[in-house]
Amino acid sequence: MQGIAQIQDDLLKRVGESQDPRAVLKDPEYRGLYSKISSLDPSERGAYGKAVNDLKIVVEAAIEERVSQLEDLTVETIDVTAPWDDNAAQVELLRTEQGTQHPLTKEMEVVIDIFTRMGFAAYESRQIDDDFHMFGSLNFPENHPARDGYDTFRTEEGFIPPAHTSTMQNRILKEGKAKLEAGGQIAGISYGRVFRNEDVDATHEHTFYQCEGVFVSETANLSEMLGTLRSFFEVYYGQKLKIKTQPGYFPFVEPGLEFAIEKPASLGGKPGEWLEMLGCGMIHPNVLRAADIDPTKYRGFAWGGGIERLVMLKYGIEDLRHFESGKLAFLRKFVS
Ligand code: DAH
Repeated sequence: MQGIAQIQDDLLKRVGESQDPRAVLKDPEYRGLYSKISSLDPSERGAYGKAVNDLKIVVEAAIEERVSQLEDLTVETIDVTAPWDDNAAQVELLRTEQGTQHPLTKEMEVVIDIFTRMGFAAYESRQIDDDFHMFGSLNFPENHPARDGYDTFRTEEGFIPPAHTSTMQNRILKEGKAKLEAGGQIAGISYGRVFRNEDVDATHEHTFYQCEGVFVSETANLSEMLGTLRSFFEVYYGQKLKIKTQPGYFPFVEPGLEFAIEKPASLGGKPGEWLEMLGCGMIHPNVLRAADIDPTKYRGFAWGGGIERLVMLKYGIEDLRHFESGKLAFLRKFVS
């Protein structure tokens, strides 16, 4: 039976290399094993037939294994450049509604667009930063109680997921210094996600969005600041607005102000109903110094506030928690 063992090895080798392993069963070498039976002496047929059957079992098992191995290797390819429908069959499991931008992303783009059209450069704020940018460069003395007001998270290594976009001020000032000293101005906004270790309710979230502005020149003053902010709000809400300020304390501005608008009648407001929208003021000399800008030559103003608040007023959203909820019923209202 030496011959049969060799034929088996040969067939197994072919099965292992074949892309169509079942075709090996049609191989003349294999079929010849059966046709040979009739030519054998009847006394040899029993043993021979058994040997051929054993071979058949081994080869068929190898064929099935090879078939499933080939199936595993076969990956349906997706042409990523093709229109959606061309790939639909392959990505049946992914077939779903088309996604849209989150309302906060959309509105943030509107905000950025208004300020960049006014000449402000836009910087995305960091989501991890250090004590110097979050506090030190903003005139928060070490261990000053004002730091506690920010409820900051901290990593084990002492880094901070920033609690305000003011964390970018020092970078914007340093980057603009050369331009300022060449007779120009610094005009930048920073925007992005900020984090506070707060209990969540209808008006508080641990994760929210802010936009911040910084302007420095030889002559910057509060009336320029109020004009800039009024223009922004009037463009954003598409109507004339009444504004007012009241004193507010932030270590990085002096004087510091809270800026409010009168809630427009078209958005359900009554005369005399004021909404505080942001904090602002003239940049503290120590903040300019921290960026190596001479506060006796240059002055600046800054402001910063939450994006959710803007958007809630615009669309009459009553609960801040909707934004981070991921609820489709809420998100679908903003599909345009
Ligand atoms: N960073 C402040 C906050 O999150 C808001 C703020 C107030 C930003 C005054 C400013 C500013 O730039 O001048 O509470």
